[in-house]
Amino acid sequence: MTVELSADQRTLQARVREFAQDHVRKRAPETDQSEQYPWDTVEKMVEAGFFGMTVPTTYGGQGRSYLDAVLLIEEMAKECGVTGRIAVEANMGAISAIMAYGSDEQKKLAADLVLAGDKPAICITEPAAGSAATEMTTRADKRGNVYVLNGAKHWITGAGVSRLHLIFARVFDEAGEEQGIGGFIALRDETEGLRIGQREPTMGLRGIPEAEVFFEDMMVPPANLVLPPRGLKKGFADLMTAYNSQRVGAGTVAFGLALGAYERALAYANEREQFGRPIAEFQGLQWMLADMSIQLEASRGLIYRAAKSADIDGAWGFPDALLAAQAKVFASEMAIRVTNDALQVFGAKGYSRNTGIERIVRDARMFTIGGGTAQILRTMIASRILNRKLPQRRDGYTH
Ligand code: FAD
Ligand code: COA
Repeated sequence: MTVELSADQRTLQARVREFAQDHVRKRAPETDQSEQYPWDTVEKMVEAGFFGMTVPTTYGGQGRSYLDAVLLIEEMAKECGVTGRIAVEANMGAISAIMAYGSDEQKKLAADLVLAGDKPAICITEPAAGSAATEMTTRADKRGNVYVLNGAKHWITGAGVSRLHLIFARVFDEAGEEQGIGGFIALRDETEGLRIGQREPTMGLRGIPEAEVFFEDMMVPPANLVLPPRGLKKGFADLMTAYNSQRVGAGTVAFGLALGAYERALAYANEREQFGRPIAEFQGLQWMLADMSIQLEASRGLIYRAAKSADIDGAWGFPDALLAAQAKVFASEMAIRVTNDALQVFGAKGYSRNTGIERIVRDARMFTIGGGTAQILRTMIASRILNRKLPQRRDGYTH
């Protein structure tokens, strides 16, 4: 299946590209060095309508598709990985889950925050529950007319800058019976008992914090529980269905970073001369560039197809789990290879912190880990193509 872009999508792409070249390119090195969230870029993105693009028009958004959001993310990531990731969470992931499953009130709250420049945080991972996310121990106990949350998450992107948090927790009724996994909305600086902990000193993507988030007798009303369509029993599966959008988004950041590195390498190969001729004339580099281009085109195809799979017969759903996982595995591994090859084309210049290529290499390293590792996603892909459950626990038990 090839995905053709519409005239409107090509216009959007050109507009986003211009924005990224004008505002994001020159800001990227400083974002990396200062490790500060680029609030000024966020402000400009909000003005340009790049936050909450996928929010339905009834809630003030543009009702744009995931493929439209992918075009945005791709152009941002070509210039700056951090801005690419901001574009993901401003249009996919937590916001998607809330806009699909939330009550009218929850949708209004989330849409208003995101449209004003808040990049929501999605809180799933815990110190003892990374890939084995269903082993999370954060709990929400129903007590009278509130849920009381206790637990700890870590590696939460945007912790400390995001206001809106979507927190995955095991839900218990008043009798202490487990109901399943649900998603709770809480607001930093408003919901008492939500505390941000230590920030991780990361290898790349340094302009956006990853940190611990603690829930200490955090009380929220039942109205803050995002109840998926099949109820709490299938709550985790439904929330992960929404999360497939974010996997496509993460794959797109990896793809955009690799594309940006490739385009820079291509230009440099024509410009730099050795042995009296441009280095682009050496077959050793020509084949390297050819391989980079093949991998990029394959990756683009997988990503666009996965994004488009959300659009079934005109109805607006989520990207298919299998296609999203295939796209993310390929893009994340491709980005490591392609950005490394781009650095090689630059020679010593690529190794210098002055050129910006080493930043792209560091930024690209993340995507085989965050959002479901390449190994976990391969198991998920195998489970879908073999049409059988593949429990990873020794006793085969699944939650
Ligand atoms: P582990 O699960 O401990 O895995 C360690 C290694 O073992 C990996 O190579 C893994 O692939 C392998 N492994 C584990 N189980 C299996 C298996 N069954 N078969 C084969 N191999 C296996 N989480 C959030 O909730 N919200 C966020 O916003 C968020 N942002 C992140 C941002 C960054 C930059 C990073 C790096 C992580 C982020 N995470 C976030 C956490 C991320 O989702 C987890 O890191 C990821 O799910 C893997 O968990 P882990 O790191 O604990 O690795
Ligand atoms: N899309 C749709 N449904 C999904 C899904 C996805 N991406 N991942 C899991 N599910 C569903 C399963 O189909 C299953 O549904 P069922 O109850 O109807 O059978 C349910 O969720 C539980 O999945 P299962 O694979 O049985 O869970 P498990 O206990 O073996 O745990 C996972 C494995 C799902 C946690 C693991 O595969 C995974 O995705 N880990 C990475 C977590 C992650 O991405 N974290 C990112 C944080 S930002």
